[in-house]
Amino acid sequence: MGFVIAVDGPAASGKGTIAVRLGALYGYPVLDTGLLYRAVGVGLLKLGGDLDSEAAAAEVARRLDLTHLEDPALRTRAAGEAASRVAVHGDVRQALLDFQRAFAAREPGAVLDGRDIGTVIAPGAPAKVYVTATPEVRADRRFRQLVGQGEAVTYDEILADIRRRDERDGHRDAAPMRQAEDAVLLDTTEMTIEAAADAARRIVEAARARWEGSPG
Ligand code: DC
Repeated sequence: MGFVIAVDGPAASGKGTIAVRLGALYGYPVLDTGLLYRAVGVGLLKLGGDLDSEAAAAEVARRLDLTHLEDPALRTRAAGEAASRVAVHGDVRQALLDFQRAFAAREPGAVLDGRDIGTVIAPGAPAKVYVTATPEVRADRRFRQLVGQGEAVTYDEILADIRRRDERDGHRDAAPMRQAEDAVLLDTTEMTIEAAADAARRIVEAARARWEGSPG
């Protein structure tokens, strides 16, 4: 295995930005795995399908073109909610597994961010960071981002979204969001994105030094 960096955490914790910075630092490809679930949710809605139907959602997941994930429609509030709902289905997660594992196997290394990278997708990853922040701070960040994208939303609506998603993502049966035992916790509540990226870099550098010194 190459040097896999697993960055997990709840919505708007800063994990996406941290993952991109780490990828740039090491020259590794970065996979935002949330986009896979967003693409399934948006794809299913486009077909007029039911987000609660595991069979319908899994069918969309199996047919997904996983290499085309740059549609801005995947970044909306509705897409995030749809993603969280289809992500509870075990068959959807199964359909997206091989692609994520193959990405993680890329040499000399790769960065993946999501909810279950350190626990399910790449449990053997030598570097794992679990990024978090209070729901209020995360809601504020997501609110600003969505308003910047032109969405008409209120802070209270976004805080409610965040709380609902934390609850759903953390309590589902299939690969719930949780910190891997060997992941380092990074609480970014009081940090600027610069400080958070720097703290993540230090965590990963320490993991890299251990990994380079280990026999296997
Ligand atoms: O990271 P994000 O906000 O783009 O993720 C959207 C949803 O997708 C999230 O609420 C739960 C789901 N997800 C998941 O279940 N597992 C992942 N590895 C990534 C995202």
